[in-house]
Amino acid sequence: MVGGLDLDEVEQGIKGDAVRHYFFGGAGNEVTLRKNRVDWDEVALVPRVLRDVSQVDLSVELFGKRVPVPVVVAPMAYLSMIHPRAETVLAQSAARFGLSFCLSTRSAVPLEEVAMAWAETLSAQSYAGAARPLLLLQLYVMRDRRISSSILERAVAAGFDALVVTVDVPYVGVRRKDRANRLRIPDEFLEANVAEELEMGAEDERPVSFGGGVSSAKHWRLGQDPAIGWQDIVVLRDSAAPLPVVLKGILDPADLELAALGGFAGIVVSNHGGRQLDGALSTPRSLHSMRAQREEFSGSIVVDGSIESGSDVCRALGIGANGVMVGRLFARALLEGGAHGLDTAMELLMAEVGISAGLMGLSRLGEMGWSQVRVPSWW
Ligand SMILES: Cc1cc2nc3c(=O)[nH]c(=O)nc-3n(C[C@H](O)[C@H](O)[C@H](O)COP(=O)(O)O)c2cc1C
Repeated sequence: MVGGLDLDEVEQGIKGDAVRHYFFGGAGNEVTLRKNRVDWDEVALVPRVLRDVSQVDLSVELFGKRVPVPVVVAPMAYLSMIHPRAETVLAQSAARFGLSFCLSTRSAVPLEEVAMAWAETLSAQSYAGAARPLLLLQLYVMRDRRISSSILERAVAAGFDALVVTVDVPYVGVRRKDRANRLRIPDEFLEANVAEELEMGAEDERPVSFGGGVSSAKHWRLGQDPAIGWQDIVVLRDSAAPLPVVLKGILDPADLELAALGGFAGIVVSNHGGRQLDGALSTPRSLHSMRAQREEFSGSIVVDGSIESGSDVCRALGIGANGVMVGRLFARALLEGGAHGLDTAMELLMAEVGISAGLMGLSRLGEMGWSQVRVPSWW
């Protein structure tokens, strides 16, 4: 027993469907999860021909820096359920193939260790020109602000390139499968990255009533504060300096306007992979609806949600993104094929991005634009 949990039970969950449901499922009836995919398929690509594509440059500007490819590994919590050193393995693989990597706060490997593995792997690579992939840290503004502030300081010290603040989790979405599976995240997975912070204020811990159930005070302190507003995020942006701050989980063009007013370095157009509000707008449609506001925004726009191929990357860039995040594709590769399977998935996706850009007639992927896509007239 660890932390009141029977580890054999956890082990069975890991091997059984519970973990697959947690990773690959969505909220509610999974309408948004399905819609993301269906709507990407609606974005038609219009290739140009007879352009010299003997060399294809995949590098783009992201958050003020040049990266080798416009692909970022999405932050995913509790990856230890699929691999004991998942975060390190993902970071190393990403660094080898030129992808940027965003570490979840809910990592079971401390962020300093991941940053060190990232830096070591990166130093062994040679990327063309000034491009190099970025190491990002995803953060929740937690009820116990001391914890988020401390993580922020650690991220600056550990050499992360930017902070990604997730803003679409005032409450965790309705994950029916997890409830039916009685999925419980082992405490050591929840706490590994914040062990020291949890010591602070441990004296005022007591069980709390939350959302109809009783949660441990520790878990309550680590949860995103549902009371946060733009003012809190602006304060966080200032305290994060010199790190650029990116807001993840935006769907409405009005929120992009506010992000532009706040001078944020970027946004991630995301519905959390259909894991939060079921019925929420798909990300391709949301991104498409931001066309006017996008012109006024000097930051970068990244989009995620069922992006799985080189064509999807072209589609995303075609409707206004500067880059994409990819989550479950890599989680699945790691779960099914281990570290080797993950390397293969990254290598294949990068090859696909190059082939798709070439087939689009682009010698520079960054030049992909509106003229090379068609979307349904009702969007
Ligand atoms: C298992 C799992 C855990 C996730 N944990 C986080 C998290 O800790 N923080 C966050 O901002 N997003 C989290 N996400 C959302 C992803 O970052 C991403 O927005 C989403 O999965 C969409 O990309 P995909 O369809 O390629 O997986 C998680 C997604 C999955 C599948």
